[in-house]
Amino acid sequence: MSYETILVETQGPVTVIRLNRPQALNALNTQVLADLIVAFRAFDADPDQRCAILTGSEKAFAAGADIKQMQEKGYAEMFGEDFFADWSKVTGTRKPWIAAVAGFALGGGCELAMMADIMIAADNARFGQPEIKLGVCPGMGGSQRLTRAVGKSKAMDMCLTGRMMDATEAERANLCSKVVPLADLMDEAMKMAQAIAAMPPLAAIANKEAVNAAFETGLHHGLLFERRSFNGLCATDDKAEGMAAFVEKRPGVWTGK
Ligand code: HXC
Repeated sequence: MSYETILVETQGPVTVIRLNRPQALNALNTQVLADLIVAFRAFDADPDQRCAILTGSEKAFAAGADIKQMQEKGYAEMFGEDFFADWSKVTGTRKPWIAAVAGFALGGGCELAMMADIMIAADNARFGQPEIKLGVCPGMGGSQRLTRAVGKSKAMDMCLTGRMMDATEAERANLCSKVVPLADLMDEAMKMAQAIAAMPPLAAIANKEAVNAAFETGLHHGLLFERRSFNGLCATDDKAEGMAAFVEKRPGVWTGK
């Protein structure tokens, strides 16, 4: 598969997707979106791939949606195209994926990182929703996902001032799961991805769905969804294997069935 704006490689069961528009600090245009949709779909469809990492460069994860592409577009065009609605195809990825963020993650870049199941930040990461400075507001989920992650006051602070948040503040605010030195970012992300990739694959998908249900439903239905997922997993070979392996004090061997 060849892509214009991203680089994709596999390391065993882990797919690494790297945003690659260095001249524009990985600004997200429609080609990046098109490439990511194909790459994530291929990742989901490959039974040998179990976890993905999305990353950018050391300077920028992504500096936002491509301002130059949006500059001339008015309401009718944006509404007619439902500009960027297709990002839901990226969030529709069933298998787990990690955003490994270094440098700028601004606007759509921050929003893309927040679409990941887990976010790891390098110590030079800078997050922000600076859309207000352009006369707009977030359009790829920032006002919703940032608010769910960090709460109302800090989300308002970020969206209304357009300021950047450093990695330490991001970790403290629960925007990312951990901060690591820049030089260790990909090793740490790979370690985490390999750990996830070694888990029973159906259970990995079910765990992801169950946590995501917490953002989509009320508690009653979220708990019901979780319980039914648990019940359903009890019909899998991997559940039988996992519990037998525990009792027999040996590692489990997964078939994904
Ligand atoms: C298009 C961008 C860009 C962007 C940077 N570039 N960000 N091009 N869209 N979002 C380009 C610059 O124009 C420049 O190209 C090159 O990348 C390098 O950027 P510099 O500004 O020269 O780098 P630097 O001085 O290091 O400053 C880095 C920066 C700054 C602080 C990240 O680039 C910046 O503020 N970028 C915009 C951030 C932003 O507002 N993002 C939100 C976008 S709106 P040239 O050709 O001049 O060398 C958004 C809405 C989402 O994301 C919702 C959509 C529906």
